[in-house]
Amino acid sequence: MPQLIIHPSGPLRGSVAVPGDKSISHRALILGALADGDTHVSGWVSAEVCLATLRCIRALGVQVEEVPPPAPQPWREQVHPSPEVGRGAGGEGLLIHGVGLNGLVEPADVLHCAGSGTTIRLLAGLLAGQPFTSVLTGADALRRRPMGRVAEPLRRMGATILGREGGKLAPLTLRGGDLHGIEYIMPVASAQVKSAILLAGLFAGGETVVHEPGPSRDHTERMLRQFGVEVEAEVKTEAKGAAVRLRGGQRLTAGGGPLCIPGDFSSAAFPLVAAAIVPGSHITLTGVGVNPTRTGLYDLLEAMGAELQDEGPMTNDQGASSFVVRRSSAVGEPISNLVIHGSNLRGVEVGGDLVVRAIDEFPIFAVAATQAEGTTTLRDAAELRVKESDRIASVAAELRKMGAWIEERPDGMIIHGPTPLTGAVVDSHGDHRLAMALAVAGLVARGETVVRGAEAINDSFPGFVETMQALGADVTWMVNGE
Ligand code: S3P
Repeated sequence: MPQLIIHPSGPLRGSVAVPGDKSISHRALILGALADGDTHVSGWVSAEVCLATLRCIRALGVQVEEVPPPAPQPWREQVHPSPEVGRGAGGEGLLIHGVGLNGLVEPADVLHCAGSGTTIRLLAGLLAGQPFTSVLTGADALRRRPMGRVAEPLRRMGATILGREGGKLAPLTLRGGDLHGIEYIMPVASAQVKSAILLAGLFAGGETVVHEPGPSRDHTERMLRQFGVEVEAEVKTEAKGAAVRLRGGQRLTAGGGPLCIPGDFSSAAFPLVAAAIVPGSHITLTGVGVNPTRTGLYDLLEAMGAELQDEGPMTNDQGASSFVVRRSSAVGEPISNLVIHGSNLRGVEVGGDLVVRAIDEFPIFAVAATQAEGTTTLRDAAELRVKESDRIASVAAELRKMGAWIEERPDGMIIHGPTPLTGAVVDSHGDHRLAMALAVAGLVARGETVVRGAEAINDSFPGFVETMQALGADVTWMVNGE
């Protein structure tokens, strides 16, 4: 099995682009499939999770061609002229031949979602609207993750959904069609659940309204608007939380120009934290999506002592981190260049909406917290227990092997720092983000770190190792002892 070998590194330097955003890549496929007309996509990321959505969409009768990116992404060139590395950095191209709102066909076989929660939950919403039978399944870890949260509102809309343990676990069998709109108050903030309900809402009679307790990512709403669908967003009230509303039966129109997918903030998070904690580093990440529902880690790093300004690299004699942001936009999503310097971080308290806005970043945030002066407290984050791994238990267990001082709480953790880390043999628990976080921890650890199960990285960030190497990090693959 491939493992990663990491040695402590000198300062990280240089400029790189990260692969396209996974959340937006899934949505481009699904909405492009439903549209009237062809959709060109550039910057699509061929991470394992997105390839799972691609296979499922094809199995539903949609032709998707892999093509050269339709046009250079102007914002990638404009924002940074220096060489970009990393597979997918220049963007991969797709041409989706949309079949229209009612053009999907019954799949001939079970739809396999691999390890992708976004694939299975978004497709559950899509398939709830179809007048045929389909079965969604996935890898072992995915079949252990909660599906009741998505099945329950879809049943209320009129779909029949069967699953293991009373319909709470995949495989899920769906018989859809003939849906009616509902008003639904989500118990947990989840973009996957919200998106599933909105996708089903496209096929439902009347209006569908979803209230969410926290600001989950809004890529579905933004992209639906790009395809001409009217989606209203209402501000949060005390009783119900923010609401999103759409009318069923609206058709999606392709042809408004290529969908250019920004770099994935959740992939940028790894070099970002690496540069923050390796002394003397100074790196630029180009063309990164900075949708505010995704950039909680950015705010956290700032609160830990990073400084943010609008233009020009910032020099700071105290050695504090500094970001530089130059803004542009692509397909209704803001994008930026992020510049960060190595710095002295301090512990912070994290809870509430910030947890939702940084939900995927806690493995790498925990690494930053081990190097921060003082105590970092994370609460309101019980959702981390039902991600690709139980990220409270797995992050604490693996970082402790490297000498970190971490206490587990039911809904978070307490991390004491700064702790000198020591290289160790650690395990990814099959979780891509944990594998990459441990690799970054290895950059500041004494001695050699070995990350087992590191192949999980391909679920999410093809080219992670090459990207880190281009910045000067000593990270290499070892396959079969070589
Ligand atoms: C995602 C939503 C989040 C996130 C996941 C991607 C999406 O999950 O953790 O990596 O693309 O909608 P939840 O909706 O379960 O919070």
